[in-house]
Amino acid sequence: MKTVLTYGTFDLLHAGHINILRRAKELGDFLIVGLSSDEFNLQKHKESYHSYEDRKLILEAIRYVDRVIPENSWDQKVKDVLDNKVDIFVMGSDWEGHFDFLKEHCDVIYLPRTTGVSTTKIKTDLQGVEK
Ligand code: CTP
Repeated sequence: MKTVLTYGTFDLLHAGHINILRRAKELGDFLIVGLSSDEFNLQKHKESYHSYEDRKLILEAIRYVDRVIPENSWDQKVKDVLDNKVDIFVMGSDWEGHFDFLKEHCDVIYLPRTTGVSTTKIKTDLQGVEK
């Protein structure tokens, strides 16, 4: 059985998120998502619309996702890979090269991002919509 691990905030879920989760799952048999906690997002100067609990609830309802674990810091990845016996680490191509240090422990694959959509873009676009 091949275990795949990916990370993200997955706020205001969109097609780019579904595409990466589907492609990540297709690389193996069991997909774990490391979901950024609200506290970790604040450290990254990022504030999600949905709370961690709601983002987790939504992710767990997606057929490609088998388990959601919290991402609380930048430096937990090696431990997560070892603890969960991860075979493949996947991130979008915006992170190309950033996690190559994990190659010591598992395969590292950067998948092309879906063009034209992001949580930031949704937030920006909605700012122009009248209430
Ligand atoms: N992702 C993707 N295609 C997109 C948007 C995101 O493949 N159009 C991927 C990212 O590369 C990442 C995962 O989805 O591996 C989670 O990304 P996240 O940062 O939660 O989503 P974004 O929409 O990029 O959010 P933001 O605009 O806040 O950065």
